[in-house]
Amino acid sequence: MIQFARRYAICAVIFALVAACTVIMTGFNTNANADEAAPTFQDVASSIFGQAVGPDDSGEVYVFGLTAKYTGPDEVMPGEGKFKNIFYFLPVTAMYYDPAHYYVSTQKVEGEFKPEECILCHSIQTPRIVVDWKASKHSKGGKTSDMSEEQVVGCDACHGNNHQELVMPDHGVCGQCHKQQRADHITGGLGSHAHAWHIEVNEFAWQIGKPGEEVASCAQCHGIVSNRCDGCHTRHQFKQSEARKPETCGVCHMGVDHAEYEFYYNSYHGKILMMEGDTWDWDQKMTPKNYRVPTCAYCHMGEEGNHNTQAVSTVYNHMGMFQVDKGAPRYKAKRDAWIKRCQGCHSPRFAAEQLSAADEQIHISFTKWREAVNIIVGLYLEGLLDPMPADLAPDWTGGHTLCLLPGGSPRFYNVSDIERMAIEMIVYQVTAVYKAAFHFAIDDVSYNAGAFPMDRKLIEIKSEASKLRRISTLEKEVGIEHKAYDFWKHGEYTDLLTGWKRKEGDVLPKSECRHGDHPCFDEPEH
Ligand code: HEC
Ligand code: HEC
Ligand code: HEC
Ligand code: HEC
Ligand code: HEC
Ligand code: HEC
Ligand code: HEC
Ligand code: HEC
Repeated sequence: MIQFARRYAICAVIFALVAACTVIMTGFNTNANADEAAPTFQDVASSIFGQAVGPDDSGEVYVFGLTAKYTGPDEVMPGEGKFKNIFYFLPVTAMYYDPAHYYVSTQKVEGEFKPEECILCHSIQTPRIVVDWKASKHSKGGKTSDMSEEQVVGCDACHGNNHQELVMPDHGVCGQCHKQQRADHITGGLGSHAHAWHIEVNEFAWQIGKPGEEVASCAQCHGIVSNRCDGCHTRHQFKQSEARKPETCGVCHMGVDHAEYEFYYNSYHGKILMMEGDTWDWDQKMTPKNYRVPTCAYCHMGEEGNHNTQAVSTVYNHMGMFQVDKGAPRYKAKRDAWIKRCQGCHSPRFAAEQLSAADEQIHISFTKWREAVNIIVGLYLEGLLDPMPADLAPDWTGGHTLCLLPGGSPRFYNVSDIERMAIEMIVYQVTAVYKAAFHFAIDDVSYNAGAFPMDRKLIEIKSEASKLRRISTLEKEVGIEHKAYDFWKHGEYTDLLTGWKRKEGDVLPKSECRHGDHPCFDEPEH
């Protein structure tokens, strides 16, 4: 009976929703630049549902959210680098993920304290942190080669003594006692942990084209791994044994755009680890004597524990979105280094053949991608995309670029359907072929993530292209001149894109960029 009543209520709501949409479609102007007095979507929804229009941060429950007004974050912090005027961070993102630049100490507790006093108070204030710290090597006392004398590394060693001037430690603080690890960590090139924040977030369209609250997650993954050391040695235990396990990398190296974690676990390496890993002694160095199969850290950091994870691997190719033959003779030294990594457990011939098979699987995946782009660029040149870039909201550059071509601003929204399909093809599927092949995830190369899903995408792209062309032929035949609908340019969400807010002079000189010798990203041409 209750279930029936519930279903009935849901039907009623859906019915009202359809009615509302009909009214809205006919009577409501979606153009944000239109007459201020025109009723908003919320006003119309309110007149149908009887629920008052109100701010979305009031605590009110809004039925399907239809009469709520977007209020935005209460407080934001400025962006960084030469594009800092175009985007912003949420306070939590900036303060804890780039603490050296943004953290502001809490002011509630006054005084300077000795390490024992920190422990005393925090045993009550944050008991679990104290338990974790006590389990760490830091609490036992010791000396690294960078320290002058043995000491217990207490709360104050990382956070400071003055409770109104607390520090959230970034890698600079850890580096005082662990110089080598920090030096490795910051030596990676483009695409490395070292640049995850200062190039890929602060200068990248996916972050700066959207409102800060929508892309706070970018700065979390990228900030933790770039600016801090507890991405792989979680606080406050800071264990090597933990960092050697794939799970630690898997927090970030997962998901549709970089599924190394999933691929690893779909390989024999991952399966054997699942079966036996709990019986291994993870405090041991990563050598073939100590481990039966390799983990992420084993392959990418090696026996020497190199904290530049690119040291063995990278012929940098933007996550696999750019094409390069990593087995080409000019990269022989790197390839040989890889074969050596495998050699503790496999024959060099087996390893070399496996890696060169991966190269071939990648080559063929790009033929499909080029076939797709060829079709889309053809439509673009003939003005047949619906919408064309000029019919969209401005991208973050303030202009209108085709997102697929070099010089365009890559993006997931504010594009035509067919461009979005192509973005998925390159960001999700081309990269999946690469990552699955090099991590020996047999099914993911073909059926599950790579080649065959890519087939479907190519068909979808062709099918959409075919429709666009046929409609255009019909329109020409009957003499209709189609103008793209305004909803491509405007809408409650679309109007929040940073392209709309972009002002003259917002981009600062290159000297504002903070990433050493690496070249700054330039703005694409409009
Ligand atoms: C008198 C009790 C007391 C002592 C002593 C004390 N703390 Fe705290 N600490 C607190 C309280 C309470 C909070 C939470 C304050 C807040 O939320 O603003 C806190 C918060 C913190 C935070 C988190 C700040 C943030 O922004 O998230 C850190 C880090 C910290 N303390 C470190 C220390 C260190 C290091 C010492 C010793 C030098 C120390 N505390 C000594 C009571 C104390
Ligand atoms: C080896 C360095 C180190 C030591 C020692 C250390 N911390 Fe931390 N602590 C960190 C790091 C790293 C973070 C995360 C920084 C960030 O979020 O930017 C952190 C964050 C915190 C936070 C705020 C984040 C949260 O999870 O609430 C508190 C509170 C804190 N530490 C308390 C303590 C206390 C209490 C001690 C002593 C028992 C201590 N820390 C010892 C490195 C340390
Ligand atoms: C004041 C010096 C000091 C600072 C600052 C410091 N450490 Fe340590 N660290 C040590 C000492 C001492 C040891 C123990 C060395 C030993 O026993 O060989 C250690 C050990 C470690 C280990 C090895 C633990 C294991 O399982 O073997 C890791 C990982 C580590 N620190 C990470 C960090 C990180 C991350 C930070 C910053 C958040 C940091 N340390 C800050 C002094 C420091
Ligand atoms: C907190 C998130 C996070 C963790 C944990 C993490 N990474 Fe990364 N990693 C990243 C990000 C983000 C990038 C991309 C940086 C960029 O593009 O500038 C990256 C880049 C890399 C690269 C270079 C990619 C390239 O294209 O050159 C390698 C290799 C890598 N990580 C391996 C690892 C391994 C192995 C682990 C675990 C031992 C690990 N990472 C843990 C976030 C993380
Ligand atoms: C990508 C993951 C990752 C990040 C980020 C990371 N570590 Fe490590 N760290 C590891 C792994 C894995 C080991 C174990 C290496 C081995 O087996 O030799 C390790 C080992 C260590 C050790 C012990 C070295 C020894 O030989 O006793 C220290 C100290 C350390 N890390 C400090 C740091 C510091 C400082 C930072 C930040 C600059 C950092 N780590 C960031 C993965 C990471
Ligand atoms: C058997 C060794 C092995 C293991 C285990 C392994 N990888 Fe890899 N990984 C490779 C090889 C080989 C490549 C291709 C490297 C090349 O030639 O650029 C690669 C590429 C990568 C890349 C792209 C780097 C680049 O240079 O473009 C990332 C990121 C990555 N792996 C992360 C991980 C993560 C995270 C794990 C664990 C979940 C992992 N890998 C496990 C061997 C391994
Ligand atoms: C779950 C953690 C995570 C989140 C969330 C995340 N990234 Fe990444 N990002 C990564 C990892 C891991 C890599 C490296 C993958 C590789 O090299 O294979 C990466 C790579 C990149 C790259 C490098 C691409 C290239 O050309 O080399 C850019 C740019 C980037 N991310 C931007 C962003 C932006 C902007 C966001 C938010 C919209 C975001 N990321 C969200 C983990 C994350
Ligand atoms: C620490 C040991 C170890 C290392 C290092 C290692 N592997 Fe493996 N690998 C294994 C074991 C054990 C198996 C499971 C063997 C089986 O299937 O009978 C395996 C399985 C495989 C398989 C699937 C089995 C098959 O016959 O197709 C491939 C492919 C593979 N490894 C490639 C590599 C490559 C390439 C490298 C280096 C980049 C590498 N492995 C590094 C231990 C290792």
